[in-house]
Amino acid sequence: MLARIAAQAGTPVFVYSADAIRSQHAALTGALAAVPHRVHYSVKANSSLGVLDVVRRLGMGADIVSAGELARALRAGFVPEHMVFSGVGKTPAELATAVDARIGLINLESEAEFATLAAIARDRGRRDVAVGIRVNPDVTTDTHPYTQTGKAGMKFGVPLDQVIPLAQRVKESAQARLVSVGMHIGSQITDSAPYRSGAEKLSGLVVQLRRAGIGSLVSVDVGGGLGIDYGCEPGLEAAAFANAVAPLAQQTGLLLLIEPGRFLVGNAGVLLTRVLYQKRSGGREFVVTDAGMNDFMRPSLYRAYHEIQVVSEAPLDFARPRSTPLAGREGGAEGLVDIVGPNCESGDYLGLERALPGAVPGALLAVLGAGAYGFGMSSHYNSRPRAAEVLVDGRRF
Ligand code: LLP
Repeated sequence: MLARIAAQAGTPVFVYSADAIRSQHAALTGALAAVPHRVHYSVKANSSLGVLDVVRRLGMGADIVSAGELARALRAGFVPEHMVFSGVGKTPAELATAVDARIGLINLESEAEFATLAAIARDRGRRDVAVGIRVNPDVTTDTHPYTQTGKAGMKFGVPLDQVIPLAQRVKESAQARLVSVGMHIGSQITDSAPYRSGAEKLSGLVVQLRRAGIGSLVSVDVGGGLGIDYGCEPGLEAAAFANAVAPLAQQTGLLLLIEPGRFLVGNAGVLLTRVLYQKRSGGREFVVTDAGMNDFMRPSLYRAYHEIQVVSEAPLDFARPRSTPLAGREGGAEGLVDIVGPNCESGDYLGLERALPGAVPGALLAVLGAGAYGFGMSSHYNSRPRAAEVLVDGRRF
C-alpha cells in the first residue's frame, strides 16, 4: 500500500495508521483502568485533522498550547470542556479566546499569567474560569536536553515553593477556581522513575494545599512524555507508567489527567521519500532524497535516530544513470551511506552511516517513527512546499 500511496500522493508524504493509534490508546487506557482518568491528546505531536478525528472518536480530549491548536481542535469536533490549555507564553489574546470558548482547564505557568487571565475574566464579568497550576516538580529525566522540562531552573512550571501563594491568590480572586495541579516533566522519557518521583511530590502538594484551605481540586495532571521505541532503546511500557502515576490518583482521590502525544502517534506514522541521486565525496557515500530537514527536523535538530527502510525499488520510468554504483557496496565507511536531504545545509540529513543496499535512485524509502513531531515541525525552508499527509484506515487511505 505504501508504494501505491507514494505513486498517488507523490513524495515526500507522511502516512499515518489509524489502527496503530487505536491500539496505543487501548494499551494506555487498559493499563490505567483501575483509576478514574481522562486522556487529553497532545495536539502538538500531530495536528493533522485526520489524526485529530481518529483521536476524538476514541473519546479523548485535547491538550492545546495555542489559539491555532484550539481552532484545529474545534474544527475536528473536540468540545471545549474536554480541552486543557497549557504553555508558558500564552498571549492575552489567546487567554481571552480560551476564556470565551470556556476551555475546561487553563494551566497557569506563573503568577503574572494569572494576573493577566484574571483581568481578562473581570472584563468579561466571568467568575468561574477553571484553572490549574503547572508545577515544576524538580525531577531529573534522562532525555534530550531540549525536551527536559521538569527540573528547577527551567522556564516551565511554577516552582514548588511558589505554588501555595499562587493557589491562595486564585482562591481569593472572584474570577477563577483552582481545580487542578499538574506537571509535565519532559518528552521521550523511557524510565518510569521520574514519573514516580514527580507524582509523589504532587501528592504531597495536594495534602499541603488542602491543609491551606484549598478545597476546590478535582484533578491532577501528570502530563505526557511517554517514550517510544525508535529502534535503539525500548519505550516506556504503559503498565510501568500506570504503576508510577496511579498511586497519585488513589492517594488524593482526584481524577487523573494525562497528556500523551508521541506515545499515541509516533510509531503510527512514516515519512516516505524517494531517492534522487547517489554521490561520493571524501570517502563518504551519499544517498540524496527528496525529503530533508524542512520536512522532518528531528534528525537534524536532536540528532534523533530514525530507522530507514527500503520500501520498493525504482519505478520503471525513473531515469537511473548506468554508472551509479549500488549504495553500500562501494565507497562509504564500511559500506555505509548517509541519507541526506535537498536543503542547503550540511546538517540536513535523515540518517547517517546506514547499511541500505537497496537505496538506489528511484527507490522509495520509509523513515520510521515519523508520526509525532514530523509534519508539525516541518517548514517551508528553502521555499519548499510541505509534504502531503495521508491517513490509512483499514484498507482505505
Ligand atoms: N503536555 C505538555 C504540556 C507538553 O509540553 C508536551 C510536549 C506534551 C504534553 C506531550 O509530550 P509527548 O507525550 O508527546 O512527549 N519536538 C520534540 C518534543 C517536544 C515536546 C514538547 N511538549 C521532539 O520531537 O522530540
